[in-house]
Amino acid sequence: MSHEPKGRPPPRRTVSWSECSGPGDGAVDRLRRQLAEDRHWVLCGKLVSGLAHEINNPLDGVINSVRLIKSGKLNPERVQEYLAMIESELFRIASLSKRLLGLSREQPPHRAPTDPNELVTKALFFVDYRMSINGVRLERQLARRLPRIAIDQTMILQVLVNLLVNAIESMPEGGLLSVKTAAEGDWVLISVADTGAGIADEDIGRIFLPFFSTKKSTGLGLSVSMNIAEQHGGTIEVESAVGKGSIFTLRLPCR
Ligand SMILES: Nc1ncnc2c1ncn2[C@@H]1O[C@H](COP(=O)(O)OP(=O)(O)OP(=O)(O)O)[C@@H](O)[C@H]1O
Ligand SMILES: [Mg+2]
Repeated sequence: MSHEPKGRPPPRRTVSWSECSGPGDGAVDRLRRQLAEDRHWVLCGKLVSGLAHEINNPLDGVINSVRLIKSGKLNPERVQEYLAMIESELFRIASLSKRLLGLSREQPPHRAPTDPNELVTKALFFVDYRMSINGVRLERQLARRLPRIAIDQTMILQVLVNLLVNAIESMPEGGLLSVKTAAEGDWVLISVADTGAGIADEDIGRIFLPFFSTKKSTGLGLSVSMNIAEQHGGTIEVESAVGKGSIFTLRLPCR
């Protein structure tokens, strides 16, 4: 399997939060800055409403369970069940808030020289089980003699796992996952390709927004990942063709 989905190659799209905020003082530049600002506020609005929704659902469950336990009408077994439910819902909120921290730029990356191939191998280890239960086959093409790059290993590992999990989830009936590393000028590229559902044209501009999900999931994976990539001076590019598959490429600077 090549990294290109079969048939006509899909149009190449690169999405980056910072792409409309370059310097300059012409009318076009002013418009660009205005757009970037508008986009920021739209993003904040989405973040707040998404957050409220994601926190309210588990909290409703917690409040309901506490009320039932307080009523004293439940037998001890049921009380244990409700306590377990409270625990798992509180975990959900805690994990949400941890993932949101990934969206904040206040945590600078702790960089260390890293072999990109080693990190890819580690990420693949994390999704091994998920791949086997989904019937997903793996193809790896890891470039030899890649430069070591100064990155926060935990953060980039999170990005890779997010991309891999998305790829696997796009192939519920099985398929081929291709992971490739390459050096291109001053960049190291790590791409994750799947032969899954692909992304609809109307969705592709929204997949990096917080809380956008077509899977009834949290919808934070890609927004957190893009933020981490940008904190490293890199970006994430996506190419996709509906019914054929998608390729997500993480692009990181060598220095
Ligand atoms: N490899 C892929 N193939 C098809 N669609 C994808 C792929 N990766 C991402 N998407 C689309 O982008 C959306 C956003 O992805 P993202 O990882 O941010 O959220 P999620 O996977 O839905 O939820 P979470 O990652 O928080 O569990 C997905 O819901 C899906 O519609
Ligand atoms: Mg995801």
